Amino acid sequence: MTFKKNILCIGAGYVGGPTMAVIAWKCPEYRVTVVDIDPEKIERWQSDNLPIFEPGLLDVVRKCRSRNLFFSTKIPEEIEKADIIFVSVNTPTKTFGEGKDYAADLQYWEKTAYEILKYSKSDKIVVEKSTLPVRTAETLEKIFKANNQKNINIEVVSNPEFLAEGTAIRDLLEADRVLIGSHNTPSGQQAAEEIADIYRHWMSEERIIFTSIWSSELSKLVANAFLAQRISSINAIAALCEKTEANVQEIARAVGSDSRIGDKFLNASVGFGGSCFQKDILNLVYICRQYGLEEVADYWEGVLRINNYQKERFYKMIVREMFSTLVDKKIAVFGFAFKANTGDTRESPAIYICKKLLEEKAVLAITDPKALENARKDLAGIDRNVSFVEDPYTAVAEAQAIVVLTEWPEFRSLDYHRIYSLMKKPAFIFDGRNLLNQEELRQIGFNVFAIGKKPLRAI
Ligand code: UDX
Ligand code: ADP
Repeated sequence: MTFKKNILCIGAGYVGGPTMAVIAWKCPEYRVTVVDIDPEKIERWQSDNLPIFEPGLLDVVRKCRSRNLFFSTKIPEEIEKADIIFVSVNTPTKTFGEGKDYAADLQYWEKTAYEILKYSKSDKIVVEKSTLPVRTAETLEKIFKANNQKNINIEVVSNPEFLAEGTAIRDLLEADRVLIGSHNTPSGQQAAEEIADIYRHWMSEERIIFTSIWSSELSKLVANAFLAQRISSINAIAALCEKTEANVQEIARAVGSDSRIGDKFLNASVGFGGSCFQKDILNLVYICRQYGLEEVADYWEGVLRINNYQKERFYKMIVREMFSTLVDKKIAVFGFAFKANTGDTRESPAIYICKKLLEEKAVLAITDPKALENARKDLAGIDRNVSFVEDPYTAVAEAQAIVVLTEWPEFRSLDYHRIYSLMKKPAFIFDGRNLLNQEELRQIGFNVFAIGKKPLRAI
């Protein structure tokens, strides 16, 4: 079969994989290939044991794999063949040199740019899919222009991805918007139209937003900063609730029913995690400081300060309430993923909390429906007193406390009478997600401490 166009995606991770699977499914006349430098990852994409857990993803992959969706490690050949190249390689926070701990590390991006240049023999549209600092496109264009002996046109377009993990397929199919940033030149506009044509297969026209390339790049950082800001705002109020006996969930409901504010992203928690929020805010802070906007940088850095404070506050509460010592006490950790419905643990608050509990010499039994593989990696080297168990009832046996760190719905429907009978007394529950029915637990006999609520002590 001949395809209308060849689409390539460089980077087969949490963004590239699901996005390309949906594009391939919705655009059968395009050939979509996803490449990665990691052969093991590609092999898993070719099997039913996908490298990431995402509800509904396997079904979509199965529908189009080997039809018009392909996974490969042959990067040079695929670049040569491609008309449109999405780049979704990782852009972690820099851990060295100028901008250490703040700026985005663009080494993978730059390597990719040079590879595109090296193997391209015809015009290409290069699409920035991963979140990037504002004006990255300019750097790319400079690289392309300065090295372009072949006289081909490489047009850079920004098309940031707004999907959230755990709901990626739905977010892709029913996106609030598709953002396409391009240059205000004929070739820039034409490239933007070609990208829009992909999404027009399933998105209505009014949801496709065209902007300048710089606005598009910055919008992604700002969207994540605003979302994270809401969580830090409610988490800051949670601390006040714990002092005043107000209830943070009641406040979220009362405040969120103001249609100007809205009710989403107001769940107080042990802190936000995930690969994006912290990284993107650090990046925003760094960019502001580079432009001498100290007040603006401080403002956004406050969102991260509250997030760190929230994680610290939570573990200190555990120590304090368990009579100021955790030495040799077994604690069952319910959930390690940074949120429910994913196996991803990047920047999960669980990593910080578990490390702190281990420093206090607690013994941990961690249970999580999907994230145990990653939890093992995250705690490698400090896991002498850690067990990773599939069954929550095994995790709680002889434990003195349960610490809920991820809002997996399955934790809600466990038999807490049975759990209580398996635990040492006094038994504690620290609900870092306001997931459980706290009053019921207190009646069973637990001492219950939840974010933004007054403590419910049975003793
Ligand atoms: C986020 C953005 O939502 C998405 O648009 C962007 O493309 C990538 O970053 P993601 O990190 O996958 O997505 O998950 P998200 O649902 O935003 O949750 C991030 C963190 O915030 C999680 O740790 C979650 O548990 C926490 N959270 C979310 C809260 O603590 N309270 C809330 O009310 C909502
Ligand atoms: P994200 O959550 O942004 O998708 P991931 O880390 O899940 O981030 O995915 C990024 C992917 O990009 C990884 O699988 C990584 O191996 C891949 N990658 C990094 N650099 C390159 C490169 N130069 N060529 C191809 N793939 C790359």
